[in-house]
Amino acid sequence: MTSFSTDIVPLFRQKDINCMNGQGVELTSYTYMSDPTGDATYPDHANARRVLARLKGDEKPRMPMGGPFWTDDALNTYQSWLDGGFLA
Ligand code: HEM
Repeated sequence: MTSFSTDIVPLFRQKDINCMNGQGVELTSYTYMSDPTGDATYPDHANARRVLARLKGDEKPRMPMGGPFWTDDALNTYQSWLDGGFLA
């Protein structure tokens, strides 16, 4: 079971959190990241899915801006958090 607080939050560096908070992307907020709301691109959980798309480079520019990009292990952990149902 992948947990947001245990497994996901530690993957973000302080500069990731700071850079993105300035743009309204609250990487360490469970409320923001697990929000089930969709948008024009993602039918549900748009916030979490857009973060994944940026981490993988499916949406450009790839994040984190300036790199280094996440390892496959870290990407898989994030994906498993989505697949597991966005557990706290
Ligand atoms: C794990 C780390 C990061 C994640 C998951 C992340 C995630 C995202 C996401 C989801 C967006 C799109 C926001 C939107 O569509 O409204 C974005 C855009 C952006 N991020 Fe990050 N970010 C990360 C790190 C950083 C860092 C470290 C910086 C600054 C050095 C940064 C600067 C930016 C900028 C300038 C944009 C706007 C780029 C554009 O779309 O034209 N990000 N990021």
